[in-house]
Amino acid sequence: MGLLFQTPRARARRLVGRAPDAWTSPLRGRTVLVTGASSGIGEATAKAAASRGATVLLVARRREELERVRAEIEASGGRAAAYVCDLTDTADGGAIDLLVKNVLDEHRAVDYLVNNAGRSIRRSLHLSYDRFHDVERSTAVNFLGPVRLTLGLLPAMRAQRFGHVVNIVTWGVQMKAPKYSAYIASKTALDVWSRIAGRETYGDNVTFTNMRFALVRTPMSAPTELYRRLPGLTPDQAAARVVRALEDRPLTTGTVPGRLGEWFNLVTPRLSDAAYHRIDRRVPDSRAARGEKTGQEHSGADRT
Ligand SMILES: NC(=O)c1ccc[n+]([C@@H]2O[C@H](COP(=O)([O-])OP(=O)(O)OC[C@H]3O[C@@H](n4cnc5c(N)ncnc54)[C@H](OP(=O)(O)O)[C@@H]3O)[C@@H](O)[C@H]2O)c1
Repeated sequence: MGLLFQTPRARARRLVGRAPDAWTSPLRGRTVLVTGASSGIGEATAKAAASRGATVLLVARRREELERVRAEIEASGGRAAAYVCDLTDTADGGAIDLLVKNVLDEHRAVDYLVNNAGRSIRRSLHLSYDRFHDVERSTAVNFLGPVRLTLGLLPAMRAQRFGHVVNIVTWGVQMKAPKYSAYIASKTALDVWSRIAGRETYGDNVTFTNMRFALVRTPMSAPTELYRRLPGLTPDQAAARVVRALEDRPLTTGTVPGRLGEWFNLVTPRLSDAAYHRIDRRVPDSRAARGEKTGQEHSGADRT
């Protein structure tokens, strides 16, 4: 029964002005592993969780960026450790297995996992016929990697009868926007996998949240010219929502337009195809998606 009312109770407490603060947060004294902690939403989330009293485990590929984030957290009185890992290395005995082993050896269990690392690809089908690797790469980092990591950490969570996993997905899961087939399909796979996993781990007090974010202004969204004209959250605003999801443990979080889009797709699917098709024709691919240099790429990623 406790879990059934966990989120409504947490919301009610916030409504009556009893939101958790740095001293009363359920994150205090807990271990929070954040993937993609070297920039954007992940970096801001790691800092916000550390300021709530959690020990934060920072995971990404760029060691120097992870060390910078770790040093900044420690300089403000927080606790953090950095782990370099390429989350596309899902081989048996590969980088993710090694990460799980090191983390469990050093911390016994992870209480909260934020599957945030990811890559976004916005590219039309007609530019993708010879780019099957777009599908492979987005599936590797947005679905297979997080699932392998979660599977590695779940046994210890279930054994201690506490754990919460937050997945940073996208409102595209609800909208199904053209040009994002590779990206949205991989995020949808993680969204659905976690929903089903949560049904199996419910009895062990291990829960999942899928966060369906709209636009957040980060290095990932920067190269897409279209986004510069649209409203978006700052990484700190997004991180505040992630921390709230860690504390309140809802099943999903999202936006009103995302919910309306989901409803539109369910109730009038063909009309929704016609509307999206018109939008797709009016909004071109970005220069990066067409293979032109933008000057905003950073190492190891060809985000578009
Ligand atoms: N920005 C948005 O508008 C938006 C909207 C909805 C959802 N999201 C999702 O939010 C998440 C965070 O993105 P962001 O916007 O904060 O972008 P970002 O600043 O580019 O951060 C992406 C993070 O993922 C890490 N990463 C990428 N590939 C990795 C790999 N193979 N192994 C380990 N780490 C890897 C990067 O670190 P390294 O390069 O150091 O490895 C980086 O820390 C993503 O999952 C994205 O899909 C973003």
